[in-house]
Amino acid sequence: MSGQLAGKTAVVTGASRGIGRATAIRLATQGAVVAVHYASDGAAAHDVVDTVRAQGGTAFAVQADFGAVDGPDRLWAGYDERIKEFSADGHVDILVNNAATSVRATLEETKIEDYERMFAVNVRAPFFLIQKGLDRLREGSAIVNVASAVTRMAFPEVVAYGLTKGALNTLTLTLAQELGPRGIRVNAVSPGTVDTDVNASWLRHDPQAQEFVSQETALRRVGRPDDIAKVIAYLASDQAEWVTGQVVEASGGARL
Ligand SMILES: NC(=O)c1ccc[n+]([C@@H]2O[C@H](COP(=O)([O-])OP(=O)(O)OC[C@H]3O[C@@H](n4cnc5c(N)ncnc54)[C@H](OP(=O)(O)O)[C@@H]3O)[C@@H](O)[C@H]2O)c1
Repeated sequence: MSGQLAGKTAVVTGASRGIGRATAIRLATQGAVVAVHYASDGAAAHDVVDTVRAQGGTAFAVQADFGAVDGPDRLWAGYDERIKEFSADGHVDILVNNAATSVRATLEETKIEDYERMFAVNVRAPFFLIQKGLDRLREGSAIVNVASAVTRMAFPEVVAYGLTKGALNTLTLTLAQELGPRGIRVNAVSPGTVDTDVNASWLRHDPQAQEFVSQETALRRVGRPDDIAKVIAYLASDQAEWVTGQVVEASGGARL
């Protein structure tokens, strides 16, 4: 497929749903060969692959549970197996660390097992995916970490989740410095509230909740997955070749 990402390969974690799905489809539409990672919902991941193919793009699905210590190894093993069809050296140009899990709980309510799971999926997995993917990342490649606007605005009801996203911002800054000399850029995107499955229970079918979020947002609506995918695609592209170590908030101006 032609486009500004033609000839590039991309891995998008958590691409079976929501922001990851929109990102995988957008990168593929721009010409990248995309690995659609998922944890449990193989049917949803294969639907993304089918959607990409129907639009003339190239994608394949890769499974790995980041709650498990070997999650990053499993992702790269699956990637190495499938990417051979498209690239002789198995390199990666774009790594989007998007997969995450969240539990709504205040300081008092947070259970240690939920705290550890969120850190495993949201921080440990991206850290070791990058570490174990370094040999595959060429000069000119880009890493985009999906953080959250909760690192700027206080949300006591998701305190541990917020900590994991703060850790990703630190990883972004630090690795931009370390990997810059190798020509690898590292940036983060911080979404505000987006209409995805994770918010469906309180947002999707409640006009009052949507109105509340809109009123707190300068651009007066709830975010859509593609609002975030567009920013990820920009940071992943050569259009952003002089941008690294940045956290870009994409929230429509939440609680400015
Ligand atoms: N939605 C928002 O309002 C919002 C706001 C700020 C930041 N964000 C961030 O944006 C990113 C995407 O959010 P979203 O709302 O699109 O998420 P989502 O719809 O809940 O989808 C989560 C994705 O992560 C994968 N995942 C979940 N647990 C996993 C595990 N143990 N191992 C590996 N993968 C796992 C899921 O795979 P399966 O489908 O296979 O389970 C799915 O593809 C996340 O980093 C989130 O923190 C979202």
